[in-house]
Amino acid sequence: MSRRVLVTREIPEAGLRLLEDFDVTILSERPPERGELLEAVKGASGILATLTEQVDAELMQAAGEDLKIIANMAVGYDNVDLEAARERGVVVTNTPEVLDETTADTAFMLLLAAARRLGEGERIVRSGGWEAWGPKMLTGPDVWGKTLGIVGFGRIGQAMARRARGFDMEIFYTARSRKEDAENELGARYAELDELLQTSDFVSLHTPLTEETKHLIGVEELKKMRPESVLVNTSRGPIVDEGALADALTEGRIFAAGLDVYEEEPEVHPSLLELENVVLAPHIGSASIETRDKMATLAAENISAVLRGEKPKTPV
Ligand code: NAP
Ligand code: GLV
Repeated sequence: MSRRVLVTREIPEAGLRLLEDFDVTILSERPPERGELLEAVKGASGILATLTEQVDAELMQAAGEDLKIIANMAVGYDNVDLEAARERGVVVTNTPEVLDETTADTAFMLLLAAARRLGEGERIVRSGGWEAWGPKMLTGPDVWGKTLGIVGFGRIGQAMARRARGFDMEIFYTARSRKEDAENELGARYAELDELLQTSDFVSLHTPLTEETKHLIGVEELKKMRPESVLVNTSRGPIVDEGALADALTEGRIFAAGLDVYEEEPEVHPSLLELENVVLAPHIGSASIETRDKMATLAAENISAVLRGEKPKTPV
């Protein structure tokens, strides 16, 4: 009998094709209800999950003893309880690298849109409120030639730096460790977080969500940013204290923000929804057609490998 694989959401065909030898259950287009998930996971040897599912001890327990692999279709794996997986000898995989360039494109898109007030402009045009070209209409800071501070200088942070070089930007970064090769290649300079916040015109966040990075950007950090600066977050919502950010934007203590991720997705802090100086995207960092195909493919390859007794391509 072929082994059971639970795919928690509808994923691109490119991934599903690789699972044809298994007994696959695809749950739903929308995030499944918890009860539905706990029921559907019974007897699964593999779970292809997305970041909307909490893959915790309870879910692994419900799957039962056949469970061998949890393949997260995301590079971030803060939704997976690694310790619970380790205790059960379950392999966890993610989808690094294939989404670096696309996610950095999204971060740079938000940076440009927030600085140059694209969202406000769109709302004016669509509401019929645009009367004429204006010498002072919708002006915002230039991006080219400015200073970009990158918080988290891994795969996506460095892809962001490559884009910034094309805009003649000066680049600072912070991470847990120095990256001398990347410094030389990208002309980036290391700075402690405080210095980076004080000197950057643009700050872009690219760390994973961990106990150390939760609210890495809070009231005090926002105070250190310059009034003309722009904050971009494509990492994870809880890395920024959303209430503190809403206050800083309301009081004009920073110029604008561009957000792809939120503390309580899909909820967005109500104050942010009222503000003009924030561009809000619905967690679409990796959402290009090509990249989503690659993520689904990689997640499915990992499941297939482990269930055939081989090593997965991208274990966490
Ligand atoms: P990565 O290659 O592992 O890079 C993470 C970087 O963060 C590393 O430079 C790491 O420093 C740094 N870091 C970790 N903890 C830190 C801390 N406490 N203080 C300062 N820096 C810290 O990860 P990645 O592939 O670039 O992905 C980053 C994150 O982006 C993912 O975890 C995910 O949450 C998010 N993401 C979001 C989307 C989206 O759709 N919006 C898409 C893809 C990814 P060291 O190298 O020194 O350890
Ligand atoms: C998306 O948010 C990811 O972590 O891949």
